[in-house]
Amino acid sequence: MTERLTADAAGIARAAALLRAGGLVAFGTETVYGLGADATDATAVAAVFTAKGRPHFNPLIAHYPDAGAAFADVQETALARELAAAFWPGPLTMVLPRRAGCRVALLAGAGLDTLAVRVPATASARALLTTVGRPVAAPSANRSGQVSPTTSAHVLAELDGRIAAVLDSGACGVGVESTVIDLAGAHPVLLRPGGATREAIEAVIGPVGIGMTPDGAGLRSPGLLASHYAPGLPVRLDAVSVGADEALLAFGPPLQGAGASYQLSAAGDVSEAAARLFDGLRALDQAGRERGLRGIAAMTVPMQGLGLAINDRLQRAAAPRG
Ligand code: TXA
Ligand code: MG
Repeated sequence: MTERLTADAAGIARAAALLRAGGLVAFGTETVYGLGADATDATAVAAVFTAKGRPHFNPLIAHYPDAGAAFADVQETALARELAAAFWPGPLTMVLPRRAGCRVALLAGAGLDTLAVRVPATASARALLTTVGRPVAAPSANRSGQVSPTTSAHVLAELDGRIAAVLDSGACGVGVESTVIDLAGAHPVLLRPGGATREAIEAVIGPVGIGMTPDGAGLRSPGLLASHYAPGLPVRLDAVSVGADEALLAFGPPLQGAGASYQLSAAGDVSEAAARLFDGLRALDQAGRERGLRGIAAMTVPMQGLGLAINDRLQRAAAPRG
């Protein structure tokens, strides 16, 4: 049963407690309602993908109460500071390189080296984020493929019973998602139009290019998904045996004889495996480099629940490199 909370002091305290305990809480922002999870908790983040029914792992935005908190997890640039001063709190999301020691789980960023960060404008959202005291990952609080919700009723229509609570702060003022700008490269690139206009952004930092988000909206070639973290070692799928010169990505009872191995879920739980997938690929890549292994052998993960997203990600990793 999904708790209906009003965005007053008691409701915010309850919502924060649920988030800190690993629960999913939808909350209003000035753009759309977000489906929040503790971004430092990969298991909670995995539950977000399950609740949304996402067929693959899109990178999520980490939400913070202020710029100082956001820039503790990403490397801010001069342009980022200027944009933060002009637009935060508000409907602008900045993509920046993760800092060493970034608290956000790799799964929240779909394994990328960059992280999207945002400081929402509504007082209740910022109070919630302050009370949680941790970054909150929050995609729009709709089922995958549906339109973004701008009231708590929209959220409940799709997610009632699938999430711990919804924090009702009324209708969203902006009603479209935040603008996403990539500041991690040599030049700023607008990845998603949204609440902050291109004109307003260019008035602050000058001309920006136009690009695409990693979700693949409008994508012409799957090669463009190369921006997703790809392990350095080749990956082969559905391994039923493994060589001493290979690293094993295990799921359930592990194959014997690998040169290195990482267990996604000893119990064969796809949600646990999703939470550990990107850590596992990175760990095996590193072990492979250190030990001179030739590739990663991935055991079969069933196509159930988050298994679809895991297999989507593994298939991309195993696809011929262009
Ligand atoms: O207004 C909003 O941004 C809402 C509220 C809840 O804050 N959130 C939202 O999240 O729209 P979501 O997950 O529906 O969209 C996040 C967008 C996606 O297009 C994703 O590809 C992009 O941000 N994104 C996230 N991390 C990224 C990264 N590291 N690099 C490039 N794009 C990224
Ligand atoms: Mg969305």
